Order: sequence, then structure tokens, then C-alpha cells
Amino acid sequence: MSVIFDSKKKTFYLNTNDTTYAFLITPTGFLKHLYYGDKLNDFDIDLESLSPKFKWNLSPEYNSKKEDSFSLNQMLNEYSAFGLGDYREVSFKVTYNDGSRNNDLKYVSHEIHQYKSPIKNMPSLRGDNELVIVLKDEYIELTLFYSVYEKENAITRRAIIKNINNNIVTINSIMSGQLDLFGNDYTIVSLSGEWGKERQIIKHPLNNCIIKIDSKRGASGHSQNPFVLLSKSDTNEYSGLAIGLNLVYSGSFVFKCEHTFDNLVRIVSGINDFDFAWELKREEQFETPELVITYSNCGVNKMSQQFHDLYRNYLINPKYAFKERPILLNNWEATSINFTKENLIKLINEASKYDIDTFVLDDGWFGKREEGFDKGLGDWFVNENKLEGGLKPIIDECKKHNIKFGLWFEPEMINEDSDIYRLHPEYAMKSPKGIINRNRYQLVMDLVNEDAFNYVKESISKILDNNDISYVKWDFNRNLTEYYSQALLPQEQASFAHRYMLQTYRLMDYFVNRYPNIFFEGCASGGGRFDPAMLYYFPQIWCSDNSDAYSREFIQYGTSIVYPLSSFTGHVSVCPSHVDKRITPFKTRCDIASLCSTGFELDITNLSSEEKEEMRNNIKRYKEISSLIRNGDLYRLNNPFEEDLFSMMIVSKDKSNAFVVIGVGKLQKSTSKYLKFKGLGDYNYLIKELGVIKTKSQLEEGILLEFTQDYQTYSFILNKQ
Ligand code: GLA
Repeated sequence: MSVIFDSKKKTFYLNTNDTTYAFLITPTGFLKHLYYGDKLNDFDIDLESLSPKFKWNLSPEYNSKKEDSFSLNQMLNEYSAFGLGDYREVSFKVTYNDGSRNNDLKYVSHEIHQYKSPIKNMPSLRGDNELVIVLKDEYIELTLFYSVYEKENAITRRAIIKNINNNIVTINSIMSGQLDLFGNDYTIVSLSGEWGKERQIIKHPLNNCIIKIDSKRGASGHSQNPFVLLSKSDTNEYSGLAIGLNLVYSGSFVFKCEHTFDNLVRIVSGINDFDFAWELKREEQFETPELVITYSNCGVNKMSQQFHDLYRNYLINPKYAFKERPILLNNWEATSINFTKENLIKLINEASKYDIDTFVLDDGWFGKREEGFDKGLGDWFVNENKLEGGLKPIIDECKKHNIKFGLWFEPEMINEDSDIYRLHPEYAMKSPKGIINRNRYQLVMDLVNEDAFNYVKESISKILDNNDISYVKWDFNRNLTEYYSQALLPQEQASFAHRYMLQTYRLMDYFVNRYPNIFFEGCASGGGRFDPAMLYYFPQIWCSDNSDAYSREFIQYGTSIVYPLSSFTGHVSVCPSHVDKRITPFKTRCDIASLCSTGFELDITNLSSEEKEEMRNNIKRYKEISSLIRNGDLYRLNNPFEEDLFSMMIVSKDKSNAFVVIGVGKLQKSTSKYLKFKGLGDYNYLIKELGVIKTKSQLEEGILLEFTQDYQTYSFILNKQ
């Protein structure tokens, strides 16, 4: 049983294959966290007696009568409230109509369900168990939800708060979950970066301080991913503690990670409360997004494998999670916005000489969009000036060659220079002080305004209904600024960022359900909204606008800490690269793009004969290994953040085959490096490219490879003999 309640000890145990998470109901009615660690086999252990004891340190005592006094500031808590003497970062804070902000919630009841209830208006993981605990005082009711994923050693948490008194309650902060631990020597690892350099691995020692990882952008963003890893200073890929926390949310989020002098460690995470207020009238309730927590005591790589399995099994649309992904040709880096019907047709013709599944027409096909970004967003009709006869001739050309057709949209945006803005300027998000910020000349569509929402829904549906489209790239190229909707009351404005996110999810939900046969890819100026909530709708996401192969080694290594390889799109693209201006060998570009859901994004009419050959071989090989990318277990072998070498390997679950890519950076001179394999079974394997058979231990000892060229890679397929 994954969820157990011991009624004598009033203790809950959440058990996975390798872990136990335990907490109890105190005699006063609080939820006291007891243990999170390796699986307990003996449930008779008195965990409470093992709880840390503290010296008196001026912490207020709850309801102190001498004999039973205790301090919430010196206790591991499951979900802490403001105003009860717990001075650490707390999980929630509300304001009542008399101005008071403290509450006194106590345990009332709990239920264990056989099925997990989904969050009503937001993405969450599917699951088959749920512990629901209700706490109450006379004003509010708080419900905490826990679900357990045994094989993936994961639990999920979320909360619902309900107003049960007659007056309005304002939520100032409400986190999805809290993790309290005891100890020291912890390190927080974040996936931080910027446009073109997303999800770099950054370590922050957590010692008597608060570390905040957040986004205030109205999107999860390029700068920080909604993820933190709690590890020890000696944790590495294959040993040590690695607890990963990932928020299933695409908007402004926060992780507050705290360590105190008492060696209490706390992480709370949820919707960012820096600009948040949500009013609840009587009987109204508010649901938080879901927080995923997975635990490994054998290093970071195992934690990553657990995330990958969890998301493939329970988050990504099951219709697509393990399904073969189309190999694409996207026109963006070949033509940018300045395409003509003729050069698109040339590209499609050339694509037909290779095994390309889908041609994707990127930005520039709509409204009066011509050469710049300043026109047309929001006008979701074809620019016949550019594409005479509409999309039909392009789609017909694709059909002639048995290639499917995909189309780019940016549904959440609007240009001032568009027919729709001229007709409905109120559809754009702006404050009464007027438009202050533009980015890429665009404004954000105010999806909180139902008319704007319906307009976007209907105008895009019209294109999808009238054309044979099997792939949609959903882009989002600027972050939110004014956080104001003309459709909301003044006192509702601080809820805008979250309401915007809910409406975005509603829009995505509509399209994904109405067009189940269209494959949706997410994008946000590259990887600016790469989070589990987006993966719920879009089985893959454009990882970064930086498709330079060397930079991608870092970006993809960092992304793989949480997200499965099949969830990131990577293309063989233009050289020198648009972002880094770096020149890398064509084979390196093919190898790195093979470590994800692959495609091509360059002018393929202009390739040398060697490149053509390489491209043909690469597609053939990708078809052979793509099942590993979708189903396999990842082993990161060489960390480019720590040494001048990158390698990642993916092994089938039955260990019968594997694919590995290893690459160097800029060389001072030729060098030799050992490639040491991991994760193989006790078999002999043929390394196809070398034509040699090796035992598992020989492969673990490593094979020596010579690198003579800057950014050179080797890639190998291994087959069990
Ligand atoms: C963003 C995307 C690119 C491309 C352009 C089009 O930057 O990340 O892939 O679609 O927009 O404007």
C-alpha cells in the first residue's frame, strides 16, 4: 500500500519502492513532518522520538501552558501558516475583512482515495491514489492533497483553500507544497539562464540563508525553470542525495529555500506571491498548481530517470507520449520571415528527397506580416500578398510528396498594426496608464477578456478547420508587463497573472481536445516556457533558439535533469549559428539533434554533397534509435559544466540496445578521451560503427577516442549480441 494511516500513532506513511515520507497529527491538531528518506521497513520505529530536539531560542510557544508548550518555529511542519510563530518562509497567508492575518487551522478529517482527482482548471499528473486531509478554523478550510508514484519514487502535493465565513477572505500567498527536513551541508541546484542559454546548471550552497528561485514574467521564463534540486555538497550523478522539486505551472512561480541556524531546512513552492492577491467570497475556493517531488539516494541521474518516467507515464498526453515523432523541416532558419511561395516549394521539393515527415511553415504567413515583426499578430488569416492562393498550394505541394504540413501560431499576442487591434484595441493587455512596454513590437492578448479569448479561439479554429494541418507550433515571444485587464475590477487586478495563465490553459485545452490528431509543439522564443504544465498540452517543446550544437550540449544536458529527451525539439540548423556565430561540423549538429525529437532547420537546397549524404544517413539512423529517445533510460556520462567533454547515453529498458553521443569543445591540440559506458546489461554488445564486440565490463572501462577537430563528436549504436 502506498498510503497508510496508523490510527494509533496518528501517522501517515507515503511509501514508494525506495522511499518513505511520514508525518503525524499532533495532539493539538497540527501536521508535523517526521521523515523523508530511504524506505522504512519497520513501521514500529517511533519516528517522533527521533525528531530533532532544540534549545530554547526565543521561539514563541503555541498556546503555551507549561506542560504542553511547543513552538511551530522549531518543528518540521507539513504546511505552515503566517502568524503562528513560525518565522521561516510559510506556505500561506490570508487577510480577513477585519484586517487580521493569523489563523488557527487544525486537522478535521482525512480520506484515502483510490483515484487521484485532477485539478479543475490546470494541468496535473494522472494517478491512482490520493490522500486528502482537511484542516479548518472558523473562517477557512484548507485541504491538502498527496499522491504517490511508487515506481518513480515520487509524490505530488497541492492545496485547496475555501472561504467558509460570510466575509471576503483575501489570499496573499498560497503555496502548492512544503518540504521540511533537518540537517546541514545542503546545496540548491537551479536550472537558470537566459534567451539562447536556457537551463544551465547552477549550484547555490544553502547555509543560514534563504535562496529564492522565481519568475515574475507571467511565464516560467528563460531565466529560471520551476525546478530546484536539493542535494548535499558531495552529491554527483551516481551517488548521494538528490531530491527534485518541480512545479507544474507555466506562469510566475517561486521556490523559497531556507536553512536556519537550527539546521532546519524548508522549501516552499507555488504561484509567485510577489504580486498576488485573490479574493474569496463565501463558499468560493482556490486551487493551487501541483508540486512534484522525487527522491534519489543514488545521485542526480536516478532522480532524472524518475522524472522522465513520471512525465512519460502520467503527464504527457498518452496518445503521443511514446509515439514516434515526426522528423521535421522547419523553414525559419532557412528563410526567416522573408519567404516566398517559390522558395517554400523549393524547400518542400528538396525535403522529398529525404525521409522528412512534416514541413512546418513558421512565422510570417498571416495578416499583413511582411518583413518585420511589427505587423499582423492577431490577424489569423493568410497573407495572400505573400502566399497567393493561400496555404493550399503549399499544402498541395507537401501532399504531392507525401509530406505532412505544420503551421506556426502565436495565439497569445497582438500587434498594434493589425486589423484586429484597430477594431478592438481593448483586446490587448494594458493598464489605464496606457501602453508602456512593447517587446518585438508586440503586446500580449488579454485572454482574461472573454471576447478576446473567443476571438483567438475562433480565428485560429477557422484556419485549422479549413486546411489540412497535422502539426502546430505554438509560440510565445514576450513576457507580461502591465498585469492589468480592463475586464477585471480594481481589487481583482493583482490576480491577473494567474487568471491569464488559467485562460491560456483553457485555450490550449480547447485546441488539444478539439484537434486530437494535430501534434502540438510548444515554444517561447526558444525554451522560455519549458515546464511540466506545457508538456501536459504539448508533448514536445522547442528547447532553445540557440541551435548551435556546442551550446546545445549544455542546454540539453541541463534540460535533461528534469525533462525526458523526447520532450525537447532539436534541429540540425544553419552554420555559422544564428545565435553564437559558431561553426560546428555537420555531423556534430546531426549527433546533438539526434539526442531529442529531431528535425532540420536550414536551407537544405544549398548543402554540399557530403552534407547531403550525412543528412540522409542521419535520418536513417534516427529512425533506428528514435524508440530509445522516446522509451529509454538516460545516463549522463560527461558533464560539460564540469569538464570539457559532453556525453549522454540512452539505454533501452530491456538493455538490449543503446545510443551514445560524446563531444569535445574547442581544442588546443588533438586529444584522446575515454568514453566509459553505463547502464548496460550483463551482455556482449556490438558497437555498430566500430564493428567490434565488447563485454559490459570492457565498455565500463571505456574505449579510447581521438579528437582532432574542434567540436567533434562520435556517436555509437550498441546492440546486444
Ligand atoms: C521564436 C521561435 C523561433 C521562431 C521565431 C519566429 O523566436 O523560438 O523558433 O519561430 O519565434 O518569429
